[in-house]
Amino acid sequence: MNSPVRKAVFPVAGLGTRFLPATKAVPKELLPVVDRPLIQYAVEEAVAAGVDTMVFVVSPGKESILDHFRRDEGLESKLEQGGKDALLARVRAILPEGVRAEVAIQDQPLGLGHAVLCAREHVPADEHFAVILPDDMVLDPGRGALAQLVAVHEATGGGVIGLEAIDPSLTASYGIAEVEETPSGHRRITSLVEKPAPEEAPSNLGIVGRYVLDGRIFDTLATIGEGAGGEIQLTDGIARFMGDHPVYACPLEGVRYDCGSRLGMLKANIDYALEVDSLRDELLAHLGHVLGRTG
Ligand code: G1P
Repeated sequence: MNSPVRKAVFPVAGLGTRFLPATKAVPKELLPVVDRPLIQYAVEEAVAAGVDTMVFVVSPGKESILDHFRRDEGLESKLEQGGKDALLARVRAILPEGVRAEVAIQDQPLGLGHAVLCAREHVPADEHFAVILPDDMVLDPGRGALAQLVAVHEATGGGVIGLEAIDPSLTASYGIAEVEETPSGHRRITSLVEKPAPEEAPSNLGIVGRYVLDGRIFDTLATIGEGAGGEIQLTDGIARFMGDHPVYACPLEGVRYDCGSRLGMLKANIDYALEVDSLRDELLAHLGHVLGRTG
């Protein structure tokens, strides 16, 4: 089955406890990296990969994520009257023309596999779809992380998971994949384990939150039951599904940031700011001062 990837699912129902109290009233996915919220980077990455329908899986109380993607005519007319054309263009580009936002509700925190399952009504079973975890940012000077996965999907027709080599002592924080090269030169995933202890991990290839999945996986997700941490794990669903339907690895190009952690979020803010021409020189000068103080 080789279909264009038109839909992306964003599981954004989590509580964001690691960022409390910042996330008491503001969803984690609306925290900014430089001047855009995490979720906007994720949507831009999906648009760059050819996706035209964004499905946000939210929990009750996190509906403000959707406000970010709704048109605000009052704000737009103020910017227009004030001649702030560049800002107006940036606000209008939040959800580009022809791109739709849809909502699914996850009313119980039963795990990532369950969150994806909640999007089932939004994704046709005969299409491949993307899953993006907005916490995982990938700074890729090229086409963007999801576009890298879509290219592998187009070449193989199969499912695809984004991977990166991680420190072997950290396997218990990731889904871990074992990979073998096929005769045609693709990298097929042969086993997947969610958060194994280092001595049980089949490799040090960790799952980054980017997936292209076959729409038929929902039937599997509906039946797998609890896995690691007592949650319904996406990794377990893919592991079972890939027995009959091949899933391929996409070693990601670019730098990955774990924006689910404070340190990852800080690093992302610095590195993304260094990509902005109007910020780079002063930020570098400041970092130089900081290093002088600590060095
Ligand atoms: C989830 C997945 C895990 C993956 C990780 C990437 O875990 O279950 O397989 O490696 O995202 O960020 P979480 O970080 O939500 O515990």
